[in-house]
Amino acid sequence: MLLAVGGGISAYKSAELCRELVRRGAIVSCAMTRAAQSFVAPLTFQALSGRRVATSLMDASEEAEIGHIRLADENDLCIVAPATANLIARIAAGMGDDVVTTVLLATRARTLLAPAMNVNMWRNPIVQANLRRLLEDGRFETIGPGVGDLACGWVGEGRMAEPLEIVEAAQRCLRRDLEGRAVVVTAGPTVEDIDPVRFLGNRSSGRMGYAVAQAAARRGAKVTLISGPTSLATPPGAERTDVRGALEMRDQLARAAASADVVVMAAAVADYRPASPSPSKLKRDVGTTQLDLVPNPDILAELGARRDGGRLPVLVGFAVETEDLEANARQKLEKKKVDLVVANRAEVGFGGAENEALLVSREGVQALARMSKDDLADRILDRVCELLSAGGSATPPRAPPP
Ligand code: C5P
Repeated sequence: MLLAVGGGISAYKSAELCRELVRRGAIVSCAMTRAAQSFVAPLTFQALSGRRVATSLMDASEEAEIGHIRLADENDLCIVAPATANLIARIAAGMGDDVVTTVLLATRARTLLAPAMNVNMWRNPIVQANLRRLLEDGRFETIGPGVGDLACGWVGEGRMAEPLEIVEAAQRCLRRDLEGRAVVVTAGPTVEDIDPVRFLGNRSSGRMGYAVAQAAARRGAKVTLISGPTSLATPPGAERTDVRGALEMRDQLARAAASADVVVMAAAVADYRPASPSPSKLKRDVGTTQLDLVPNPDILAELGARRDGGRLPVLVGFAVETEDLEANARQKLEKKKVDLVVANRAEVGFGGAENEALLVSREGVQALARMSKDDLADRILDRVCELLSAGGSATPPRAPPP
């Protein structure tokens, strides 16, 4: 893997990071910006990695074999630590003005950024916009920054993640345990039309389902995302089908689930829909009015009931509750015949970037701390992988598409 070191004081921690990666058996090549070399000597990284350090695009001997393209091609993961505000901006702008940015421009490998900077720089909307641009690309991920004392004297967000945290994040980036698996994820609300301009909806933002779709794609799965209306960008690597109402979601899901190894029902499917949506806009002058509702089919329960022998696909449901979280989740597990229920409280899970959940399966209950939806998505998929392997020979990976 490539360790690209930016010019920040936390570059000294990257030396420790390099050492730890090598200790765990990684082959690490290092590249440094010019500013990074003012903080730590290239010789430090050469000694720790056992390999020559790339410091310049203009070095005749380094570039004798077009070294920057070799570095871009031969590494399965790039780690940028510290990722300074300046380095993030240069990468986001597509610049190739030194060996680090040029390698990152040329590589197709996943890139893990470990931002480190002053708290006010970190909060600057320009820095955040640059970072968002990279994250939308799908090849980039971030770890940290953490909160604490900063070298500049401020206290706040901006500390580079600790070397061990970066190593763990790197291991997560390299995991391909869903390779060859077809994963279907539903996400977002369903909206049930009342007339051509009005609908019944709910507060689901779609973020949890999109996080699961993104994590599954990153872990090698072929992902189909069936989404109600959201304002989110399609996760890189996922194939997305947009739907509105529960009935449309049910149709699309039936099609996709037929060849799925895993179905994750993160969508907040409406329990009711208007009995007869009006073809024209309803007028106010009718005075007090009534809306007749009919129940929607329980899509997840239908899938659960249809599974032959209860094996493929692995079914994951969500339970948003306001009380008796665990008891309700256990009930859902049995009633809907699913393998795993992710139970969370409505007041925590809806809308935000974080969630706090119980993972309830027949094997037991795992209470997770509050974490980002991205992290929770990975924890859910860890359980899914266990369930897939518990299926043993009954659940061989499907042959990859030709
Ligand atoms: O029973 P409840 O609606 O609380 O269950 C939530 C789970 O069931 C979610 O995974 C949701 O996607 C799914 N569901 C469904 N069809 C419905 C309602 C909920 O598949 N009509």
